[in-house]
Amino acid sequence: MDIAVIGSNMVDLISYINKMPREGETLEAPDFEIGCGGKGANQAVAAAKMGARVMMVTKVGDDLFADNTIANLEKYGIDTEFTNKVPGTSSGVAPIFVDPESKNRILIIKGANQFLTPEDVDRAAPKLKLCSLIVLQLEIPLETVYRAIEFGNENGIPVILNPAPASKELDFNYVCKCDFFVPNESELEILTGMPVETEEQIKAAAGTLIEKGVKDVIVTMGSRGVMWVTKGEVHIVDSHKVNAIDTTGAGDAFIGCFAHYFTQSQDVLHSIKMATAFAALSVTKRGTQSSYPTVEEVEHFIKAVV
Ligand code: RIB
Repeated sequence: MDIAVIGSNMVDLISYINKMPREGETLEAPDFEIGCGGKGANQAVAAAKMGARVMMVTKVGDDLFADNTIANLEKYGIDTEFTNKVPGTSSGVAPIFVDPESKNRILIIKGANQFLTPEDVDRAAPKLKLCSLIVLQLEIPLETVYRAIEFGNENGIPVILNPAPASKELDFNYVCKCDFFVPNESELEILTGMPVETEEQIKAAAGTLIEKGVKDVIVTMGSRGVMWVTKGEVHIVDSHKVNAIDTTGAGDAFIGCFAHYFTQSQDVLHSIKMATAFAALSVTKRGTQSSYPTVEEVEHFIKAVV
């Protein structure tokens, strides 16, 4: 096993809208799609699509979505031995609104994801120990995230933490124990309380995390690219100019693809460049996982842009 994603899955209910209705207003929207999502599952699928052997520790409900979510993970070859159903609970769902500028607004109803416990991490221990990387986000209880970080540290397994959605309750004593901390600009702003308008401000905000002991901070900045900050060094990888249709799940695409290339090469800059291409291609199609490219598409794109 290469990568363990300990995290969320959701059913994405995506409305393509012209504008958000105001209070009391009913508006017609042009289109709707339903798909498999959730930050954890998206990251797992992105890594698996690139060729990684991935396991997922997650929880689904006992509703009509559950079997489809498990079947979807298995379709991508993801190990679901530790994907369990929670009786009497709904699966996680995410109503998403995508506007004509391809920007999204997301609500999450965590459902079964809130029942992923530290004990679930320990139950999966024999298989988790075989992984070379653990990937985490914040759509599951924080104590489960903390146990997974500790588990990684106890077993010498590097940990990537994607602090999404941002939680002010996140304990930085645990963040400092992660190898990679990967926020987007708005998450960085919420977590540091610092402005992130300019690259200099982003650098300064990420710098405060490095001072607190985080080893590598990788900030995804959308069309402005990616900033990698580590002690004494800052690298910026530019984004690719593409025709963006739907940016939902692009951050997850980046993280899953990064995780795969990092386990293969241990080369952070190379992994960021591959993940930047993967994420760029993902925004050219609708949906989250359904927009993720194949290895061939990524290789073709890279040849065309280099
Ligand atoms: O990052 C995008 C994801 O956020 C969506 O798939 C949605 O399910 C929410 O978890």
